Amino acid sequence: MTVRRLDMGVDLFAGLANAAMPRLERAPKILVFDSGLGGLTVLAALDVALPGADYVYAADDAAFPYGSLDDQRLVARVVAVMERLIARETPDLVVVACNTASTLALPALRTRFALPFVGTVPAVKPAVAATKSGLVTILATAGTVRREHTRAMIDAFAGEAEVTLVGAPNLAGYAEAELRGSPAEDAELAAEIAPCFVERDGRRTDAVALACTHFPLLMDRFRSIAPWEVKWIDPAPAVARRVAALVGDAPMGEHGAQRALFTSDRALPKALVEALAARGVTEVERCLFALD
Ligand code: DGL
Repeated sequence: MTVRRLDMGVDLFAGLANAAMPRLERAPKILVFDSGLGGLTVLAALDVALPGADYVYAADDAAFPYGSLDDQRLVARVVAVMERLIARETPDLVVVACNTASTLALPALRTRFALPFVGTVPAVKPAVAATKSGLVTILATAGTVRREHTRAMIDAFAGEAEVTLVGAPNLAGYAEAELRGSPAEDAELAAEIAPCFVERDGRRTDAVALACTHFPLLMDRFRSIAPWEVKWIDPAPAVARRVAALVGDAPMGEHGAQRALFTSDRALPKALVEALAARGVTEVERCLFALD
């Protein structure tokens, strides 16, 4: 039993793709998927690593936040949305830019679709490598915190480090609000991140892994309200490196504008349109799909 859990943790951490990347004569089409706007942090890293790929960003905002869906419902939802997105966009590779979905639904996705999937899972190993005090925090959604996979990764990679797992109920929503031009108060953010900061035997937490792709959107604000300095670990560049390795020497196109799809018909306030444009996303389409 222990061995099986460890194997799954290692597999998820490495973000191993299930299907081989096809050999391409054109730029690869990469679908970047999240419950909302958090995956934009991964898209930005991909855009740096592979600027000539063809990206489509998909936000299942009709079902946001994934952190509050129960496991069975979340897997069914992610597979159903992916079915539509893959049929519509025919990507060559899918990046599940969502820890809450990756830590649960990757096996189902890899079984159902003959495509390479790269997931985003808590950066336990980099956080442990970064700590000097031996006190590390993994900051995630409530869903990611309760996953067996998350626990298995801690078992596999924590070593001597003491890991505090913090499930923040509102942070992903605050990150969405920030991009939509209605930022949360400092006190609201401070209350969410307060449990990350642990003092024990004269030592203090010095590394915090941001295990939800929404959270790096708030990184500057975290830095300004943190009770002391820590290393904030954003796994997006590592995910981008993994994708670049899979894509290999496929030909690349022009560095062009990107497109985003939303599953709800929620209005896009001016602040969000500007935030998307600042990330190179100038075209928005709807792929409406209400949550049952
Ligand atoms: N961006 C998602 C993640 O990485 C979570 C946001 C949500 O709860 O939907 O976990």
